[in-house]
Parts: sequence; C-alpha cells; structure tokens
Amino acid sequence: MDNIYLTGFMGSGKTTLGEKLAQELSMKWVDLDEFIEFEMEMSCYDIVEKFGIEYFRKIEKQKLAYLADCSNTVLSLGGGTLIHFQNQKIVLRKGLLVYLRWSPEQIIHNIQSSKKRPLLKEVSLENIDQLLLERAEGYAQAHIVIDCEKKEPDSVLKELIREVQHAL
Ligand code: S3P
Repeated sequence: MDNIYLTGFMGSGKTTLGEKLAQELSMKWVDLDEFIEFEMEMSCYDIVEKFGIEYFRKIEKQKLAYLADCSNTVLSLGGGTLIHFQNQKIVLRKGLLVYLRWSPEQIIHNIQSSKKRPLLKEVSLENIDQLLLERAEGYAQAHIVIDCEKKEPDSVLKELIREVQHAL
C-alpha cells in the first residue's frame, strides 16, 4: 500500500486524525480540501457557492488523481469524495482506506459549531441520513472501519494507529 486514505462524514475528524496518524507513522500528510483551497485560492465553501457542487466534484476528482501519485502519504479526503466511483477506484488502487464512523446523531453534534458546510445549510437528522445513504457505498469500500462513537479522541487515535499498522 502506498498511501492511507481517511474517509468519513463531515466533522468526523479526518483532518485532525490524519495529521496525527502521519506523524506517528513518519509519513507525509495532505488534506484534500486544504490542497484544493490552496490550488484554487478559494475556500471549498466558496467554490461550491459560486460554481456549484458538480464543479467542486470535478476539481476534487482532478486533485485526488494528482495526489494519488504520491507515496508514503496519509490523505484526508472530503466527506463526499467517494461518492464518485472513479474516486473509489483511484483510492483503492494502491491505498488503504479507513472509514471513521459516527452515528447521524453524533454527526449533528460534531458539525454544529464547526466551519461552514455548503451541503448542510440546514443541519437536520433527515438531511444527514439522506447524505449518509448516498455515501454508504463509498464508505463501505473501506478496509478498516473505526467506530468513533463514545470514545475519547486519544483512544480513537490509538485504535487507528493499531489497525493501520496491522494492515500495512
Ligand atoms: C463535503 C465535505 C467537505 C468538503 C466540501 C464537500 C461533502 O469536507 O469537501 O465542502 O460533500 O461532504 P469535510 O468532510 O472535510 O468537511
């Protein structure tokens, strides 16, 4: 496996855990959203607002394809990256995919006070359930599922490191 990819819904800790995992394993780390923002000189939120979600997905696909050529890298994906089958293929080609799983109820709690989320202007259980349903197939491709519910952040990190080391 060349790279490790972290997936999961918005607010699931992909960025924070990805950076810590990379440190722990002495790997490089890239956050896909941050890379898109750097390259486009615009926030993901603004890209979606100005040009629409399909345009954002197109850019996301291009940047993922570019980053997938890296090796020894932990990549934190966006919550919707795997909705496209081609992105699943890119990730699974040479990567270990980890899904950070949270319940819809806890997701609401996670994203309430966080950054602006273009796809979830109205944070409701119904909206989250709908998005989770649309993304279920992509998340189901994961080699490793980390259940994050009711665990201290530190024990989630330890479990993540243990599972990944075991799989590599
Ligand atoms: C999105 C999640 C965001 C970002 C974009 C779209 C989504 O990333 O890629 O706003 O479709 O779930 P995070 O999951 O890091 O918030």
